[in-house]
Amino acid sequence: AIDIAKLRGQSGYITLDPGFKNTGSTESAITFLDGEKGILRYRGYPIEQLAEHSNFIEVAYLLINGKLPNRHELDQFQGTINRHSLVHENMKLMLQAFPAHAHPMGVLSSLMASLSTFYPESQNPHRAPEMVNLTIIRLLSKMPTLAAMAHRNSSGAPIMYPKNSLGYLENFLYMMFGMPTEEFSIDPVIVDALDKLLILHADHEQNCSTSTVRIVGSSQANLYSSISAGVSALWGPLHGGANQAVIEMLENIKADGGNIEKWIDKAKDKDDSFRLMGFGHRVYKNFDPRAKIIKKAADDVLNKLGINDPVLEIAKKLEEIALQDEYFVQRNLYPNVDFYSGIIYRALGIPTEMFTVMFALGRLPGWIAQWKEMTERKEPIGRPRQVYIGENVRDYVHMADR
Ligand code: ACO
Repeated sequence: AIDIAKLRGQSGYITLDPGFKNTGSTESAITFLDGEKGILRYRGYPIEQLAEHSNFIEVAYLLINGKLPNRHELDQFQGTINRHSLVHENMKLMLQAFPAHAHPMGVLSSLMASLSTFYPESQNPHRAPEMVNLTIIRLLSKMPTLAAMAHRNSSGAPIMYPKNSLGYLENFLYMMFGMPTEEFSIDPVIVDALDKLLILHADHEQNCSTSTVRIVGSSQANLYSSISAGVSALWGPLHGGANQAVIEMLENIKADGGNIEKWIDKAKDKDDSFRLMGFGHRVYKNFDPRAKIIKKAADDVLNKLGINDPVLEIAKKLEEIALQDEYFVQRNLYPNVDFYSGIIYRALGIPTEMFTVMFALGRLPGWIAQWKEMTERKEPIGRPRQVYIGENVRDYVHMADR
């Protein structure tokens, strides 16, 4: 705590920590992260084990309820989610009002916020636990529908209604890629890869979007609006938007003749605002454990699907060169979760503009779990202080005298 505030005529001590680099905002029992050692656990379970053995819906249950479900609990959870996947028909009218080139993250955050208007009971801050549970189910259930709708609208394709006999991710892929005139089938390799990716994105303690969800929720704003705010926070290229930016960067390097050194020099140049996208992390000062798993998954998935993507080779080479470069070594800059994820999404046929939407789908259970923990702990409204550095008191000057 420093006394700057006092020096400037304010009373009391204020901790000044721009970017909250060293400030904890809460106690939490959801995700454990050791950035020095590169460890990540959800509710105590190592991320490596969950990525290997679990599936996304089971991980969502784990994050939100704090324990792994038994067979009955999982079936019930999955079944309830399936039953709520339709959205109000008027949402289609809202969708049509967006321009054709609308970025799906802009569309998704708007549609998520609008859910609160279709379910006004969610706006009551003194909600019964059953109402909270129903809102959670609706969010998990409707976000894939809305995300797929955003994609279909931008590509001019007809909206596909959810098919509740399908699993969570199959249903999403059906709404993304199915056609009313054709039978739908999906390669299980694609579903497995997506499961793994979404598990790896499902929570990451007090990151920018999660802190946003908690702080918006702390004013007792409804959960739909809090999640919509999280989607908006995720969109930025320094956070979830990095996955789209990585592919665009790798494509640019390819178009530039594969001159990786030139781009690394550009990232090191302090007069150039360019950064190596998908590199560096606020907390990991060692390898991001998620990036390790994703790098291997990228090789596996591309091999299984028989895809040869030259951009994967550029990514690997770039990583190799950067990890030997003094600039990156000194600053502990390693590939993060977004460095290889875009290459897998691309292999699965997901369009580049949808990459950050995929991240949002994955992060949704984490946002929900964190919001739930915050409300159950009855945390106070989030309200940081500041150190005022503006003008001292001065008298109003009338227009004629300025
Ligand atoms: N390329 C080049 N230099 C970098 C990079 C990078 N990707 N990341 C950090 N640096 C440098 C900074 O310029 C700074 O150098 P300096 O000490 O000479 O001034 C030093 O490393 C420390 O960087 P900060 O910006 O202070 O680190 P911070 O913790 O604030 O930022 C962040 C972390 C935003 C992730 C940053 O590393 C970055 O911009 N990375 C690229 C974007 C990205 O991949 N974001 C996704 C993060 S993962 C996620 O959100 C899911």
